[in-house]
Amino acid sequence: MMIIAALLLALVALLAMPLVSSKGEQSPSRRPWAIAAVVVMVGLVFSLTVVGYREPWLPQFKAPPLRAQTTGSTNLVIRGAALFHRQSCILCHQIDGQGGSRGPNLSQVGARLSRDQLVWRIQNGAASMPPYAGVLTAQQLRDVVGFLATRK
Ligand code: HEC
Repeated sequence: MMIIAALLLALVALLAMPLVSSKGEQSPSRRPWAIAAVVVMVGLVFSLTVVGYREPWLPQFKAPPLRAQTTGSTNLVIRGAALFHRQSCILCHQIDGQGGSRGPNLSQVGARLSRDQLVWRIQNGAASMPPYAGVLTAQQLRDVVGFLATRK
């Protein structure tokens, strides 16, 4: 509260500056550096915000479930793919172009990692991946791993 009030006060004081003290140069065309500095700052804030939203480190928070034609239709794969969405894996991992790119693309993870390696990674997580030990039941873990193992 205090901080916001102090900021507002400072803002009002700054805005009142030209009214209080009318000496000095005020015409914009005579103060190119001040104008340029403001333009550059506004431009930077705007462009960095745009770039920030595009960068892959941002999980894709609104990722829809995987399409059925991507996953196939055996029961195991349907359960695993549903968990892949429900447990938020898809926010960070892409499969066939669907999902976020915070973590590695898992379209062909079945060719890269064994089942044991998949289990280990999912249970332990990584620097930027949450550990799922204790989050997934043994059956859910089997379903997700079973699904990922089909991704070759
Ligand atoms: C917050 C983002 C995030 C979420 C959510 C997430 N992961 Fe990850 N995952 C990562 C990152 C980042 C890595 C890379 C870790 C590393 O190598 O240091 C990774 C690595 C992996 C790997 C190893 C991939 C490889 O090629 O080595 C697998 C498999 C994996 N994740 C599966 C899953 C599953 C399954 C889920 C959901 C139960 C999940 N992840 C949820 C970020 C995430």
